[in-house]
Amino acid sequence: MKIDPWSSTTYQDYTRLRDEFGIEEFTEDLWKDLPNPDKLIRRGVIFGHRGFQQIRGSIINKKPWAVLTGLMPSGRMHLGHKMVIDEVIYYQKIGADINIAVADIEAFATRGFTLKETKELALSEYLSNYIALGLKPDKCRIYFQSQNQDVKDLGYILGKKTNWSAMQATYGFNGQTNMAHVFSPLIQTGDILHVQLEKYGGIRSTLVPVGVDQDPHIRLSRDIAQAHRYYNVTVTKDNKIGVFVKIDENIGKLLDNAEIILKQCGYNKLKRITDYKAIYIQDATDYDIPKIDEALARTETKFGGYGFLQPSATFHRFITGLTGEKMSSSKPESAIFLTDSPKEATKKIMNAKTGGAVSLEEQKKYGGKPDECIVYELFLYQLIDDDKELQEIYNSCKSGEKMCGQCKKHAAQLMENLLNDIQEKRKNAPEKIKQYLS
Ligand code: TRP
Ligand code: SF4
Repeated sequence: MKIDPWSSTTYQDYTRLRDEFGIEEFTEDLWKDLPNPDKLIRRGVIFGHRGFQQIRGSIINKKPWAVLTGLMPSGRMHLGHKMVIDEVIYYQKIGADINIAVADIEAFATRGFTLKETKELALSEYLSNYIALGLKPDKCRIYFQSQNQDVKDLGYILGKKTNWSAMQATYGFNGQTNMAHVFSPLIQTGDILHVQLEKYGGIRSTLVPVGVDQDPHIRLSRDIAQAHRYYNVTVTKDNKIGVFVKIDENIGKLLDNAEIILKQCGYNKLKRITDYKAIYIQDATDYDIPKIDEALARTETKFGGYGFLQPSATFHRFITGLTGEKMSSSKPESAIFLTDSPKEATKKIMNAKTGGAVSLEEQKKYGGKPDECIVYELFLYQLIDDDKELQEIYNSCKSGEKMCGQCKKHAAQLMENLLNDIQEKRKNAPEKIKQYLS
């Protein structure tokens, strides 16, 4: 199995994806005590994560944390694109500062758009809809990759610690791949890590909410962040906690600094072995590692480093297109666009593939299959906030009480309300956009 961020593959088997790529399951213990978890979280649409424990820690301990995500404007915005922004709006409500990259360089490099085209599309489609959906300007910045010199510089500089073989293995690049495309994952790494530069809020936990197709970029940026660190805090073979200096300059000074920080953190049983470039902490457990690591990371800038913490990520499932394939801007009948008229949307819903039986009679007798139904997916992902109400639809479908025609009409009605609401709110969006652009 391969994850290709630029192909239009659908991913069906999320469990297998998780297992094969080492994505962790987004289990209830990670989110159940967050304030009002969003429906995408409660319903398992967000099925996986990397390092979310870190984010949870920041939320619970009321420490600052950032969200960074990006959009590649390469067509009209549809319900699939809406999911990430629903997630972002939830994180904004619970205190994250929000950073959104418009991936105009990536769209230029990989999709053949001009920077000007992407800019227009980003403004008229995505950003206007984000505002209509409820993204607030407070603690929120949206920027274009091509206009942020720090992002581009980081992309270039951080490229030092990854090599061509790794890029080939991860992305399947070959001799024909154009260099702008080859470089785009590093720009994305620049997006993800730049929020931890002093100028953008400094070293802190960062969450990157994305579709699972973006996982290769997440792995790359986590690896790169780690590779640029000066300290490594880890459990040693004989089960002690060790702080190791990873570079060959300033070893003495870095060890002195670590001793001071460790003492400030309350550890007193320290054993320094300069030849090993190490300090062993006798009175710490592996539980303490994240805290120690973060305290040390924050001091690395004094020695010329970045101290980037590894970014965390959440991965959401993809909403199925109304035709049964992937929801895609290039196949208008598969997607409901946020700029569709209610009439267009209704037509698409009425034509959608359902989990209904071959005849009414059979459906009454054996019930429908909501788990295989795209209309049900619309309720689950988008149209119904109340879990009980959703459960009732599920039950009455399974039991054969509900018939598809009536059910589709219900979905179409809710979709109409949603689209009308978005369209109304989008009217004032253009004049507000400036407040978001950095
Ligand atoms: N590659 C993403 C996409 O295809 C867009 C993107 C650019 C992004 N930079 C990012 C996503 C940073 C998350 C984080 O949609
Ligand atoms: Fe889907 Fe509704 Fe038909 Fe059940 S009744 S299969 S949920 S459309």
